[in-house]
Amino acid sequence: WIRPDASSPSEWEAPSFAFAFDIDGVLLHEAVPLPGASQTLKLLDYYHIPFILLTNGGGKFEVDRVKELNEKLHANMTTDNFCQSHTPFQELLPLYRDKTILVTGSDYEKCREIMEGYGFKSVVTPGDIFRAKPEVFPFETVDRPERFGKPLPKPMWEPPKKKGKHENEGVEGKEEEGEQEEKKLEDHLKIDAMFVLNDPRDWALDVQVFMDLLQSKEGYVGTYSEENNRGNWQGDGQPKLYFSNSDLIWAAKYHLPRVGQGAFQHALVGIWREITEGGRELERVSFGKPHRETYEYAEEMLVRHRGEWLRSKGYGDVEGGLKRVYMVGDNPESDIAGANGYDGKGRYGTEWVSLLVETGVFNSTRMNFVEGDPRKADVINMDVVEAVKWALRNEG
Ligand code: G3P
Ligand code: MG
Repeated sequence: WIRPDASSPSEWEAPSFAFAFDIDGVLLHEAVPLPGASQTLKLLDYYHIPFILLTNGGGKFEVDRVKELNEKLHANMTTDNFCQSHTPFQELLPLYRDKTILVTGSDYEKCREIMEGYGFKSVVTPGDIFRAKPEVFPFETVDRPERFGKPLPKPMWEPPKKKGKHENEGVEGKEEEGEQEEKKLEDHLKIDAMFVLNDPRDWALDVQVFMDLLQSKEGYVGTYSEENNRGNWQGDGQPKLYFSNSDLIWAAKYHLPRVGQGAFQHALVGIWREITEGGRELERVSFGKPHRETYEYAEEMLVRHRGEWLRSKGYGDVEGGLKRVYMVGDNPESDIAGANGYDGKGRYGTEWVSLLVETGVFNSTRMNFVEGDPRKADVINMDVVEAVKWALRNEG
């Protein structure tokens, strides 16, 4: 690829291709840059070739994660070319802006702040529920009790107290006369949707709260619905359940892949199958790679970023359009499967070429740990440097 002649920017021909880079296992192992990662991004910058980072990671504000990545990779990205697992949750704002949602992830308060930052007005965490009613979780609390959040926007539903022989001489089994004011369900806390932003840390409390809500009547915290226990999704208006990422495994610093948010998702799927009559499948919506919604969002971001970025470099006509995206990933089940599935099927009809690297989940010497079939990748490269070189040669 020849860098355009610096003398006449407006005549330069805008590159019609771009890159989408996965992060964990391609550019970083947790916070440690992989060899050649920083130089590769610099090279693309130098040749005016646009790219975005497209990660199933999350749990931080986009602006903060970009700042961290720029420091680690000596890059100068902005949130215009950065999409993390829950970034597309913003598309759901019209549905839930004025409803109450429950969120979880690595840090309850951070997850609440992120969703409030997206514009969601009423955000509750499992920690808030635990704080309001510790009996919800009958085991000793996990560490750092101070992280268990804020007062609930409305009280949780509690069954009317019955006076019985064991309490005092009241009329057996009758509700308290008189003081028991009429309890109206709608005066109590109702959760309309549940969101998982990144890998939860308090699985035990989260699983309990999620199961309570899935079995509740219309999402009223503290209620129970026979209908929902029969796994009838349309029964009593269960809260919708959204995951930001389905990764069962991912590549961290350890030499073997680690379980990811997909493991938490499958824990809920397994418990729901056991707890409901007839072993029902858990209804849920998954974002993140390989799901189409995430690739639609990423393609839109790439088209917008390419135009603005190249115009800022002095290019005249950039409407020439984005023809091809090279997706560089380490996970056959997410990065590769997603690119293959979206190839030519997006709003802009871009071709997606899947380049699988051996520095993450997939490593040919460790085949038995690989999910999915690595041979589905258009190309297998040793690392991100080789993948980008292959793509530049392919562009001639
Ligand atoms: O939690 C992050 C992990 O699921 C994978 O992240 O960057 O490889 O998509 P990434
Ligand atoms: Mg990865």
